[in-house]
Amino acid sequence: MGSKEALEIVVNGESRELAVDPGRTLLDLLRDDLGLTGTKRGCDDASCGACTVLVDGRPHLACIALALCHDGSRVLTIEGASPPEGVHAIQTALVDGGGLQCGYCTPGIVLAARALLDRIPNPTPGDVREGISNNLCRCTGYERIIGAVLSALPHLTPLPAGRETPGESRS
Ligand code: FES
Ligand code: FES
Repeated sequence: MGSKEALEIVVNGESRELAVDPGRTLLDLLRDDLGLTGTKRGCDDASCGACTVLVDGRPHLACIALALCHDGSRVLTIEGASPPEGVHAIQTALVDGGGLQCGYCTPGIVLAARALLDRIPNPTPGDVREGISNNLCRCTGYERIIGAVLSALPHLTPLPAGRETPGESRS
């Protein structure tokens, strides 16, 4: 095992300074070092999307991302995705619309959908399908997930005019 190196990273709005092994993945760091187990380990080889987190506002697969490659980045996990007053509107819509069963894919899908809606505020069903296309769900099929994401639109907080800063999202 190589000697550890310093990593500065912002996770869910909190600055963290850590000593990290060069081979450690972002998923290991989040789940095992920071206790953020909402980010799921599925295939561990970039096939399922369960480990999706947002890095500077864009979806990344944490299972294949070396933690040290994200020095200075802002990472958002499902634990940081909800507004202070409750769960994210997409989460509520997934529950209400039958868009989850076992829930293992759900954190990754919520974050992928959130990134999509920041990029395309009024998506078509096809846009949503494309936006979550890296996230496998073995339980539901995808129609209820797509329907739930679209039904969340009226309940999302609008972004400030002209906002294009990666890492800020509607909630
Ligand atoms: S656990 Fe990362 S893509 Fe499956
Ligand atoms: S709800 Fe079970 S994998 Fe999606």
